[in-house]
This record gives sequence, structure tokens and C-alpha cells, in this order.
Amino acid sequence: MSARKNKKEKQLKRTIRVDLGQRSYPIRIGSDGLDGLGEAVATRTNATRVAVVTVPSIGRRYGGAVMRSLRAAGLKAHRIDVPDGDSTKNLGQVRKLYDAFLDWGLDRKSVLVALGGGMVGDLTGFAAATYLRGIPFVQVPTTLLSMVDASIGGKTAVNLPKGKNLVGAFHQPCLVWIDTGTLTSLPRRDRSAGMAEIVKAGAIWDARYFARLERECEAVMDLDPASLVPVLERGCRIKAEVVRQDEREESGVRALLNFGHTLGHAIETQMGYRRILHGEAVSIGMLHAARRSQALGLAPAGTADRLEDLLARLRLPTEIPRYDRKAHIAAMQVDKKRVGSKIHYVVLRRIGRAETVELTPAEILPVRRRDQ
Ligand SMILES: NC(=O)c1ccc[n+]([C@@H]2O[C@H](COP(=O)([O-])OP(=O)(O)OC[C@H]3O[C@@H](n4cnc5c(N)ncnc54)[C@H](O)[C@@H]3O)[C@@H](O)[C@H]2O)c1
Ligand SMILES: [Zn+2]
Repeated sequence: MSARKNKKEKQLKRTIRVDLGQRSYPIRIGSDGLDGLGEAVATRTNATRVAVVTVPSIGRRYGGAVMRSLRAAGLKAHRIDVPDGDSTKNLGQVRKLYDAFLDWGLDRKSVLVALGGGMVGDLTGFAAATYLRGIPFVQVPTTLLSMVDASIGGKTAVNLPKGKNLVGAFHQPCLVWIDTGTLTSLPRRDRSAGMAEIVKAGAIWDARYFARLERECEAVMDLDPASLVPVLERGCRIKAEVVRQDEREESGVRALLNFGHTLGHAIETQMGYRRILHGEAVSIGMLHAARRSQALGLAPAGTADRLEDLLARLRLPTEIPRYDRKAHIAAMQVDKKRVGSKIHYVVLRRIGRAETVELTPAEILPVRRRDQ
């Protein structure tokens, strides 16, 4: 292999460390497949048995490579399929997983591997946090959203009939293995939705990263490794840094990740979670928050326009579908339980810097463009 090619291949593998003392772990990003996963799991744990939790479509595509790699590393691996869709992220499904773990003889040294998007990651993470009072788990995220967001940081959760993510635990994975090759099967609409969280990271934390996205967002969407791998790397580093500073959402730093999510959640609730993807709702919520930041005199003119241009290039929605002021106020109040109470709302001071202000739902509500 030529020195040049060698160098190029090296550039496409990166390891980031999430620094949390004894709970620290590596995030391995690469375009070189799933082959090295088994060795990495064997090195990071004392496991002899591994259960790979996935959904059928991902299991069919990538399960074979994962199982081969685990077995080649001397691990006894079993695959457990759960039905696809966020409605699977519930306590009934967790209970079925516990039963399967017992049937397979998983003990406290055994490890779970979450192979899939954020739904599989949250469900498997929660099962790992609670089975036998906690066993190790590994994230193998296969959506853009779960690569830069859901798989990092140790928040695990399941839904209750009354709301999303209402039961959960903080439980850090012992390894995050990102194979960018898995993104080739991810529909473009889901890719765009994942990009919304990447844009968010730039908007709240890193102006240079935001500028890089402005230069390279099409190449990232086309999965060009030369753009994709560094963009994923920086996105993961930002999430890791936020989590390092505020692992349990106590100091307020981690709350900055909620940029765009207050209105975003209200839109998801109103639309019944079906017709709009999370990242799409966040896109609308971010643009609204940026406009609001300008209207409040907190961010300079042009901030929202820059954000809007980038979101539009990513084919993300920026206008609220079926805008219903009352329904959105109600949804935000349900979120906060008390009518009239203030919400910690994330505003931009400029691209690359965010802060939290306290506003009532009525103050948060969309300003029309001409109100800016
Ligand atoms: N724990 C956290 O910090 C955190 C953060 C953000 C979101 N979440 C959670 O993550 C979930 C959303 O995650 P998501 O957007 O990854 O959704 P998802 O896991 O539901 O995946 C979306 C769809 O894409 C499919 N898919 C996944 N990978 C694919 C691939 N490589 N090719 C083709 N299809 C693929 C899935 O099977 C699914 O149908 C929600 O449950 C949300 O609450 C958690
Ligand atoms: Zn989000």
C-alpha cells in the first residue's frame, strides 16, 4: 500500500475518550467496518457472554458482521430482535429482554450490545442499567442521530403511556463503536434529521464547526468519509465535553443540548410523533429559538438567517406545520406540569454560544418573521 493511501486510511479511524473518571470510555469512529468490534468488546470487559439487541431490519443487514466479530474474539454471542419503532421502548419489552437474558445465562460480567438507532440504544441501555443491578453495555449506533447524540452520555430511558422517556437511568456504556458504513442504508430523510442535532452542536458550542458544516454539509449528507468522519468526530467530542462538564444534568451545561427542543417537543406532541421526525421538529424549534434570541436583543442580526440557510440546504423544515398557538402553549405547559410556570429556554448569543433564560410558554411562542 502506498504511503499516501496508508495515511488516508489512518485518517478515517478516530478514537475519542469520554472523560468521566472510572466511567470513562472510548468512542471509536471508523469507515473500516465492524470487524474490530469483538476485540474491542473483549478488551474492554471481562465478558464471556454477549447479547446483541437489535431490530429485525438492522439485524439482517449488520447482525451477521457483528456476531462474526464477537465470536472471532472468543465471545459467546446471542442475538435478540425487538420490534422496530419507538412504541417498543417500554417496560413490557424490558421485561421480555430480562427473560431472554436469564434464558441465555447472562451474568453480571456479561455485556449487552445495542445495535441500531437511538430507540435500541435507550432500551438496551435501560435493560443494562437495571438487569442484576447493572451490567456493562456497548453502543453500536446506526443512525446519524444516535452516533452523535443518543449513544453518548449515558442517558437511558423507556416510554410510559403518558409520555416519552419518563422512566430511565444514567448508565454509561463501556464503548461506543461507530461504523460509518452502516449509514449507507439510512434513508436521506433520517440522515437530514440526524444532521439537525449536528447543526445544534455547532450552533450552541462551536462556531468553527458550524462554519465547517456550512462548507461541507452536502458532502456529509453524501457520506463522503473525508467530510463525514471528521464531522462525526467533532460532533461526538462536543457531546462528550458537555457530558463531562455536567454528567447528570445538574449544572445547566447539559441543558444547552435542549436548544430547539422546547418547541420541537411541542410540535412532536401535537403531530402525534408520526408525521414528523425528531430532528425535523428540532430544526423548526432551533430556528424559532434563534429568531426569538434576535427579537430579545440577545443575538446579533443575521444569526437566524445563517441557521435557516444551513437547515434549508439539509432539506430540513423551518416553518411550523399547522401552527396552533394554543396547542403549542398547552404542550409546553404539560412538559413543565404547571400552568404559567417558566421554562428554561435555550437562546443563542451568537452562532457557537448559547445560554438559558427563563420564559413563559407565551413568551416563547413563535414570533412571525416580520416581528423580528
Ligand atoms: N439517550 C439520549 O441521550 C437520547 C438522545 C436523543 C434521542 N434519544 C432517543 O433516540 C430515539 C430516536 O433515535 P433514532 O432517530 O436513531 O431513531 P430509531 O432508533 O427509531 O431509528 C429510526 C429508524 O431507522 C431505522 N434504522 C436505524 N439504523 C438504520 C440504518 N443504518 N439503515 C437503515 N435504517 C436504519 C430504524 O430501524 C428505525 O426504523 C428516541 O427513542 C429518542 O428518545 C435518546
Ligand atoms: Zn434531540
